Amino acid sequence: MGKSEESAVPIIRLKDVTIGYDSGNPLVNIPEMEVLPGEIVAIAGPSGIGKTTLLRTIAGLVSPISGTIEVCGGACPERGELGYVPQKLGLVRHASVMHNVMIGAKAGHSSPWSLLPSNPAKKKAMEAISSMGLMDKVGEPVRRLSGGQQRRVATARTLAQSPKLIMADEFLSELDEETMQMVLGSVTDYVRASGAALLVVEHDISRAKSMADRLLVIDDGRINPFITEITAMEVKV
Ligand SMILES: Nc1ncnc2c1ncn2[C@@H]1O[C@H](COP(=O)(O)OP(=O)(O)OP(=O)(O)O)[C@@H](O)[C@H]1O
Ligand SMILES: [Mg+2]
Repeated sequence: MGKSEESAVPIIRLKDVTIGYDSGNPLVNIPEMEVLPGEIVAIAGPSGIGKTTLLRTIAGLVSPISGTIEVCGGACPERGELGYVPQKLGLVRHASVMHNVMIGAKAGHSSPWSLLPSNPAKKKAMEAISSMGLMDKVGEPVRRLSGGQQRRVATARTLAQSPKLIMADEFLSELDEETMQMVLGSVTDYVRASGAALLVVEHDISRAKSMADRLLVIDDGRINPFITEITAMEVKV
């Protein structure tokens, strides 16, 4: 481990965290988990085990049953620091691709010049839309796009925000191989260039192994469900 890595403040830090919607029925216990700047970490595990709930808990949308969570160095990230591509995309379906991506861009780049056509938020939104291969859909209402195109709009919305942390839940679903490589390449380029972190839920283990620096597998323990942290080389499917 290099010197800068040793001293890096984790973007995500979990300590003794138990997640779930009901304290009588905890889903997953995480004794310790850290994600460092510039790291790509994938989460895999069976359907219904709690992967989305883990992302929603880190995002502050669900309270943990117990434990401590720090994101971007504090209990709660600053506006625009956390970008989330949810499994259920949360797009404004009647509004255009540009409108949806501007929601992210404004969260990350609000400025007194926001009414000018050259303002940084608009520039960021156009760059993000372009990086997702959606320039021909820029003015199209989202409801008229395919499932994979809508997923790319949600990814563009997050990239336009220039977040310190991207959490993406199955963001590569519904994409053909070529489009998937383009989307993954754009997101990983952003992460590597900016020093942001990427925490991604990916049910396809071989894809998770190929994209991530580390893989966290949520296992279906009967009494104490747990997260096993293992290197991509050691993972057993
Ligand atoms: N809002 C909610 N209230 C109560 N229980 C919920 C809620 N959302 C999900 N659950 C339950 O929590 C469990 C974990 O759900 P979660 O969506 O986190 O699973 P997942 O690992 O992401 O699954 P998948 O791979 O199918 O997306 C499931 O049993 C689900 O029924
Ligand atoms: Mg899920």
